[in-house]
Parts: sequence; structure tokens; C-alpha cells
Amino acid sequence: MTNGEQISRSGKPAVVAHRGASEDLPEHTIGAYERALAEGADGLECDVRLTSDHELVCIHDRTVDRTSDGTGVVSEMSLAQLRELDFGSWHPGGKQASVLTLRELLTLTLDWRRPVRLFVETKHPVRYGSLVEQKLLAMLHEFGVASPPSADHSRAVVISFSSAGVWRIRRHAPMLPTILLGETARVLGGSAATAAGATGIGPSVETLRQYPDLVDRAAASGRVTYCWTVDELSDVQFCADRGVRWVATNRPAKVRDWLVTI
Ligand code: G3P
Ligand code: CA
Repeated sequence: MTNGEQISRSGKPAVVAHRGASEDLPEHTIGAYERALAEGADGLECDVRLTSDHELVCIHDRTVDRTSDGTGVVSEMSLAQLRELDFGSWHPGGKQASVLTLRELLTLTLDWRRPVRLFVETKHPVRYGSLVEQKLLAMLHEFGVASPPSADHSRAVVISFSSAGVWRIRRHAPMLPTILLGETARVLGGSAATAAGATGIGPSVETLRQYPDLVDRAAASGRVTYCWTVDELSDVQFCADRGVRWVATNRPAKVRDWLVTI
């Protein structure tokens, strides 16, 4: 296990590839994540959903309609059905690609030649009660990353808009870092993050520009800030100036270059 300082460069935000290098390649495909890693991303972000046979797959939307050549609700389809679809050709920069499972993405992340973190976002955990978190934790245990010695040493971070979902993760894996996502200062600057036990907050860059003191308020309670989706130079500069720890971007190569110059 490597130490956290090797994963996040000190002094400037670390770069998280949002759905992979998703500006250039189809989101949530193995090619988009390999590209992001080759471009030097410090972390990868993915969304996870449960299939009808309770497999965790990396898909953002409730349905497959936007990002594949099929139609249907992810939670009503089996992994075998999803494997029949093409998740790559819809994108101008894409080619045929299979659905990506969380197991495949964890394997890529943990086998990569330098240490990177995987930010796993649970989508709509309410639909399955706590099953999404149960399945996720079981897999993180299987890969040996559910009980890091400290948040700084963790190779996995669970992020969610659901404070109940974050709380369930913290209850069963107290050493695992968690980030409560939100789009309002009321949620992120209030007691929700404390109640959920989150180790960080995750505002959108629009929310953070409206309430820039969120970073300091989080830091005062020992929490880091993860900001999304940071694709413009002015937003990268803003996040660096405020002391944001992680910036999630669809353009990891560009953001890395900008961070060298600012
Ligand atoms: O990284 C957080 C961000 O991804 C949340 O929004 O809709 O892109 O999942 P969304
Ligand atoms: Ca997401």
C-alpha cells in the first residue's frame, strides 16, 4: 500500500477523471478510464447501479438509452442483457465497447502502475434499500480496500447524494472515506455531512462559486472538499485558490496541464 501523499500532489487539487476521460471517449468505458490513467489522473470517478441480478455496473443514467444502442431500465436488466449492448459507438470519439462492471474498474484501478483512487458514486440507493451499499462493501472487502489504515491511505472513496447511503457505508466501514454530494449550501454547510459521518463534502463548482466559504467551513470540521465538474481553466484556478482537495473533470489531461501553470 502506498501513502496518500503519493496519490494527491500537495498544495494543488488532485485530478479525478469524471466517468473517465469522458470528453474524448465514451463515459464509463474501459477505454475512457485507461486514457485518463495514461494522461496522469490521480483518481477516477464512476457511478454504480445494480442490475436485476444484483451486479454492480458503471452506468450514470437510470436507463441505457443515452449511452448504448439499446433501451431499458438498468435495474430491470441482467448483466448478460447489458453485455449484449454497445456502450461505445454513440460517442463521436468512440468505438464498440462493453458495459463496464465495477469489478473490472476496480481491477484496472488497483493494478495500475502507480497508485490512484477510485471514487465510487452510488446512484439511487433508495430503490434497493441498502443492497447497493452491501454489494459495494462486499466487493471493496474482497479487493482488500474497505479498511484502509486512514483516509489518506485509502484507494477507494464512496460518494453519494444520499446522506442515508453515506451513513450506511460509515457504519459498516468506518475507515473508508466518504463524500456527501450536494447542490446546496444548506445541505453541505449544515449538519447533514456531520450526521452522515462524511469525511468530505462534494459541491458542484456552481454551488461552490455561490458559497466559496464551504471549503473553509468543511475544513474547520476536518472535512475535505471534492468539487465537480471542473472543466474550465477559471474554475480550476478558483478551486486551487480555495483549497479544494479533489477536482472531478471530464478533461483530465487539460486540467493537469493547467494545474502545472497556475
Ligand atoms: O462526481 C460527482 C458528480 O458526478 C455528480 O453528478 O450527475 O455527474 O453523477 P453526476
Ligand atoms: Ca457521478
